[in-house]
Amino acid sequence: MLVPSKILLDHALQNKYCVGAFNVNNMEQIQGIMQAAKETLSPVIIQASRGALKYSKMIYLQKLMEAAALDNPEIPIAMHLDHGNSFETVKQAVALNFTSVMIDGSLDESGKIPNTYEQNVAITKQVVGYCHPLGITVEGELGTLGGIEDGVGSGKVQLTDPDQAVKFVEETGVDSLAVAVGTSHGAYKFKVAPKLALDIVKAIHEKLPNLALVMHGSSSVPKELVDIVNQYGGQMPNAQGVPLEQIQSVIPHGVAKVNVDTDSRICMTGAVRKYLAENPGKFDPRDYLKPAREALAQMIAVRMKAFLTAGHALEIKQINLAAAKKFYV
Ligand code: G3H
Ligand code: 13P
Ligand code: ZN
Repeated sequence: MLVPSKILLDHALQNKYCVGAFNVNNMEQIQGIMQAAKETLSPVIIQASRGALKYSKMIYLQKLMEAAALDNPEIPIAMHLDHGNSFETVKQAVALNFTSVMIDGSLDESGKIPNTYEQNVAITKQVVGYCHPLGITVEGELGTLGGIEDGVGSGKVQLTDPDQAVKFVEETGVDSLAVAVGTSHGAYKFKVAPKLALDIVKAIHEKLPNLALVMHGSSSVPKELVDIVNQYGGQMPNAQGVPLEQIQSVIPHGVAKVNVDTDSRICMTGAVRKYLAENPGKFDPRDYLKPAREALAQMIAVRMKAFLTAGHALEIKQINLAAAKKFYV
C-alpha cells in the first residue's frame, strides 16, 4: 500500500536500518524495484524527479506507482517527489497523490544556484505548512552536494553544519533531512578514493537523534556494472561511486534513507547493450527490456540486503495519509 515515508523512516531509525529510495522513470524500473522488494520483504521508497515526471507526462508514472502498490499490498511503499524545486512542483506532486515530498531549498528554483539559509528556511517552511495537514511527509536539504545531474546541482560542495541543522529542523518542522556529508550525484563522484564525513553524520545524529537523515548521491557505481557498459560499446571511463561498505558505516548514525539512481541507470544500460550486442537481429523492446528489468531487480536486492532493509516489510503497520495527519496535530 502507499504510505507516507515518515512511517518507513521512523521504523528504520528505531531499528537501525536504512530504506532505499530508488528513482524511476518507467514501468520496467518500477517492476524491477518491486520484484526486489517482494523477494527480500523490504519496505521501499519509489521516487520521481521533476525530469521523471516530465518524461512520463506525470499521469503515467502516478498510475504505474499506484499499480505497484495494488500488485504488492504487503509491501509498504512511499511515493516520493525527489528534489522538488518549488512550491508549484510540490503542489503538482500532491495533486498526483504522492505520499512524500522533498523540497530542495538548498538550491534556488533553477536547481543551479545555492539559496541562502533564510531562503531555504522560507520555502521549506511553506512546503511543510502545506503538506503536514494532508499527512504528507516532507524532506528538506541543508548543505550542497557535489556533482551535477541533468543540470541539477550547483557543482559546489558545502557540507552540512550540525548546529545549523538543529536550527533548520526547529524552524521548518521537516520530517527528514538530506545532508551533505561527502556523497555526490552521478557516475563520476570522486577523483580520489571516496571518504564520507562520518564525524559530521555522527555530530548531526547526536544533536538530532530522532530525525531521519537522508543521503543523496549514494550510488556505488559498481565496477562490474560499469565494465559491462564499457565492454559492449559504452564509454564510462573513471566512473566511481560510494562503496556499499561506506554506506553501511553511516546506518547506525541516523541515516534512514539512501538515494540511488545512477546505479539503476548503469545496470539497465549495461544489460540492454549486452543483449543487443549478443542478439543483433532482435528488435522487439520486450526482448532487451526483460533482461534489463531482471538485472535491475538483482542489483536492487543486493542493496536492500546491504542497507539491512530486507525482512522489515511486514513489521510496519501500514497507514494512509488520512491516518498520518495525527502526527502533526
Ligand atoms: O538526484 C537526481 C536524480 O538522480 C534524478 O535525476 O533529474 O535526471 O531524473 P534526473
Ligand atoms: P546517485 O546519482 O548517486 O544515484 O544519487 C541519486 C539521488 O541522490 C537522487 O536524489
Ligand atoms: Zn539527490
